[in-house]
Amino acid sequence: MPLASDLEAFFAKNQSRARDELFDLLRIPSVSARSEHNPDTARAADWVAESMRRIGLTATVHPTKGHPVVVGEWRKAKPGAQTVLIYGHYDVQPAEPLELWDSPPFEPTVRDGKIYARGSVDDKGQLYLHIKALEAHLTARGTLPVNVIVLAEGEEEVGSEHLAAFIEDHKDLLECGAVVISDSAMFAPGLPSILSSLRGLAYFQIDVQGPTTDLHSGSYGGAVMNPAMALARILATMHDADGHVAIEGFYDKVRDWGEDARKQIRTLPFDDAHFRAETGSPELFGEKGYSTLERIWMRPTCEVNGLLSGYTGEGAKTVLPAKAMAKVSCRLIPNQTPDEIEHLMKKHVERVAPKGVTVTVTHLHGGHPWRADLDGPLFDAARRALATAFAREPVVTGEGGSIPVVGDFQRILGAPVLLVGFGLPGENAHAPNEWMSEENYFKGMRAMAALWDELAAG
Ligand code: BES
Ligand code: MN
Ligand code: MN
Repeated sequence: MPLASDLEAFFAKNQSRARDELFDLLRIPSVSARSEHNPDTARAADWVAESMRRIGLTATVHPTKGHPVVVGEWRKAKPGAQTVLIYGHYDVQPAEPLELWDSPPFEPTVRDGKIYARGSVDDKGQLYLHIKALEAHLTARGTLPVNVIVLAEGEEEVGSEHLAAFIEDHKDLLECGAVVISDSAMFAPGLPSILSSLRGLAYFQIDVQGPTTDLHSGSYGGAVMNPAMALARILATMHDADGHVAIEGFYDKVRDWGEDARKQIRTLPFDDAHFRAETGSPELFGEKGYSTLERIWMRPTCEVNGLLSGYTGEGAKTVLPAKAMAKVSCRLIPNQTPDEIEHLMKKHVERVAPKGVTVTVTHLHGGHPWRADLDGPLFDAARRALATAFAREPVVTGEGGSIPVVGDFQRILGAPVLLVGFGLPGENAHAPNEWMSEENYFKGMRAMAALWDELAAG
């Protein structure tokens, strides 16, 4: 079915304004990880609240111990109408390294149909397209077929530390029959996608302390344990030669997805050579016995995210470093939990740590994995709405990334969660030159406007 003509007319007429408004939001450097940007993050929260008030929602900016949570509401639908909750995040990742951007990260620029800016696709563009979809209904018809709650948070990129408690504390305010989130990517250009899984996360910092100070590597080297070497040895124990994680008990809770899931994954248009080229890696590598998509979607991992030790400046310096540090994160699969993996990681490191250094493992943040059965009216409505906007039936995909709050929504609000993203492969989220497809920004609005009609129609 084509999009209702009154909604289509609204979108056609308001396209350039929809882009200009998004650009205003993208100009605010709401980097949640950096306290020097706290005023910007607060400004982005206010901007989102104000953008909802402009179209007829009420909006409140709730302070938290971290960054504010914005809640918008519109509850004037006909009696008996459903209430839906739209979630997104207005915070962004740091833009560094700045010198690798072709245009400044907080000066949105369109090149080749792509909107380049930090946060364009993750997640400001995908959050704002929902607000535009609501505006289309409210402007064209003066009403919406569903009651709507919009929850926009400012701490997603730093682990959503205060969000679960916020949802618990505001259970009544947030009560709903469905949660809809656009914070992910389509499987391929032109191919709308519904997500059926996310991996969880357990993020650690490993600190290795040797001598109290850096030492001359000639005068002391060979006689005290080198922390960098000790750390390298610890990290080297985390996998076997076949790419399996070698932390004892790591796979105990992993539920096998079964042959049906593997078969379904094989129906998707995916090419290893193309994927390899996209990464620029000389060769693909992963756990033996699994395809690339299986490795990313249905297998847990343990990855080094960062390493720090000793002299890394120009030329040579003969020094034995006093300490070494690694950031290590595990992606999790049902039914692994961050708590359990924290326990196993600590036990493992304790067991393999060489003598002569002190090793501490700190759990920085975590999130539960998530997997859904895509049954029920919400998902049927989503399939129809996506087909309307993209003129193509959506596919069901998995995802290797994490959105920790998804499990919390399901657990605390008891509502099904629909994940429908409008990013694209190669979008450079978290990296220099992040972009969002302009076409997807506009089609995403149409799809979400259609969704509310489809959901109300049942
Ligand atoms: N939008 C992403 C989640 C995501 C990543 C969806 C990749 C689809 C593909 C989200 O903003 C994100 O970056 N999540 C973090 C987790 C968080 C706890 C820092 C992630 O996956 O690393
Ligand atoms: Mn995101
Ligand atoms: Mn992100």
